[in-house]
Amino acid sequence: MLVAKTKEEALKIVKGESVIETDRLFWVKTKNGIIRVFKPISKELIIRKLQNGNFPERYLEDVFSKSIKKTQAILVALKSKKEGLLLSGKAGVGKTFACIYKVAKLIQEYKINAPLYISLQDFNIAEERERLKDFDTFLLDDFNPNLNEYEKKFAINVIYYAYHRKKKIFITTNADIKTFFEFLNEEPILSRLRELTDIKVINDKDYRLEVKR
Ligand SMILES: Nc1ncnc2c1ncn2[C@@H]1O[C@H](COP(=O)(O)OP(=O)(O)OP(=O)(O)O)[C@@H](O)[C@H]1O
Ligand SMILES: [Mg+2]
Repeated sequence: MLVAKTKEEALKIVKGESVIETDRLFWVKTKNGIIRVFKPISKELIIRKLQNGNFPERYLEDVFSKSIKKTQAILVALKSKKEGLLLSGKAGVGKTFACIYKVAKLIQEYKINAPLYISLQDFNIAEERERLKDFDTFLLDDFNPNLNEYEKKFAINVIYYAYHRKKKIFITTNADIKTFFEFLNEEPILSRLRELTDIKVINDKDYRLEVKR
């Protein structure tokens, strides 16, 4: 998928001769025929897609703000070339923020279309299971060792689901990686997680304290 912000960029990408602009894309005439170059998805549409996937309202505008801090979690998310992320770290270091930022960016670049947010500390197993098929990316937020047997089983099923259907997966946890893996206690799932995600420890300050000040 070719993406460009402006006519000039669209022409440059495909070495075009002339261009016609529509709301969503540029038609570029080249030596080898007409090529479509898409515009990045608008902020409004990205927010609608995030809302549709139950992403928490309070992060939605913030991830588009000009004053985003280059936190360790954001740098990790920007650098990662893997399909997904597994971020471990203390409360407030910006794990959820960074995952949502990355998901928004992937939508903007047409890499994903329908992400689903599941807070594992507050969710309805039956409802979420029913919804999985409508989404192509999952953020399992707060995957902590306090989950009960059923919640844990559901979360593990989501990982298998993502793996088999080549969907993207993002996970945050307050546990350190060793404790998290011991809690999962299933070698097949660990090996899939290693394949699907960049596993990173975030050692940063608590940005929630900063916000309150
Ligand atoms: N890059 C950033 N730029 C601006 N604000 C940020 C950034 N990262 C995090 N914040 C703010 O800091 C606070 C904590 O971030 P976040 O909720 O992502 O932490 P967390 O690591 O997921 O914490 P927890 O483990 O408790 O869920 C939020 O209010 C968030 O909006
Ligand atoms: Mg969080």
